Amino acid sequence: MQDIHELTIICGIDKSGAKEDVEKIRICPGEIVGIVGPTGSGKSSLICDIEQLSQGDTPTRRKILINGKAPGRDIRTDPRKKRIAQLSQNMHFLADMTVEEFLRMHAKSRNRNFDTVERVIDIANTLTGESIQPGQQLTILSGGQSRALMAADIAVISDSPIVLIDEIENAGIKKQEALKLLAAEGKIVLVVTHDPVLALMTKRRIVMRNGGIRQVITTSAGEMNVCSELVKLDNYMMSLRDTIRHGGLVEQAVIV
Ligand SMILES: Nc1ncnc2c1ncn2[C@@H]1O[C@H](COP(=O)(O)OP(=O)(O)OP(=O)(O)O)[C@@H](O)[C@H]1O
Ligand SMILES: [Mg+2]
Repeated sequence: MQDIHELTIICGIDKSGAKEDVEKIRICPGEIVGIVGPTGSGKSSLICDIEQLSQGDTPTRRKILINGKAPGRDIRTDPRKKRIAQLSQNMHFLADMTVEEFLRMHAKSRNRNFDTVERVIDIANTLTGESIQPGQQLTILSGGQSRALMAADIAVISDSPIVLIDEIENAGIKKQEALKLLAAEGKIVLVVTHDPVLALMTKRRIVMRNGGIRQVITTSAGEMNVCSELVKLDNYMMSLRDTIRHGGLVEQAVIV
């Protein structure tokens, strides 16, 4: 794929067949955009449209443009040309391989050095509480370990200019760190989230309802302040969670 300076979503229809309330959304490199909405409102479908570079050929009838143009068929079908990475909501490894074998294979397919394998595992281990070993079989990794490994793999090996993330907060990994890792400088990032901290970490958020895009909200200065307060609260919750997970007692509340 050529250098990407703009991703455009040309809106389509909702579940009732009515036009979406927004006509077009333009996203430039360096921007993290949130996608929010109730369960079943079409958040994952929007992510899938972008991943497939839909051209009016999905139930939503949306079109996705790269640099203002419809991408050619070769870009849509060749994963090496598409360069869109997706951390999906439901992820299971089916391959009968070890972590190291899988990462080596992926690194080779992307012409990366083998020392990247070690880097991916090290980074993954900063995101998960239970450390991943190179010789472990992929199929026995926990949900949190799998998602941590895929987040690190996307950041280091895939290194795609467009990154799509579906509900990282339910993955049992350090969500803010994972988002910062995936949203490296100059990338276009879309993150589906029910989590207020992640939603407010974005510059803009797309609001979904009934399968359609209803509005795009720009995060205000007030919301950014709320976000920094929430981060403190969230860190406190995490420390409580850790203590409880490790069999500790939490008998005194520390109000932040
Ligand atoms: N515009 C649309 N037209 C027709 N069907 C749609 C449209 N948008 C979403 N759907 C369908 O609605 C269902 C729910 O959508 P989706 O899985 O994207 O919701 P979600 O917001 O990701 O929900 P959750 O929060 O539970 O993950 C899916 O079966 C999807 O195919
Ligand atoms: Mg979903």
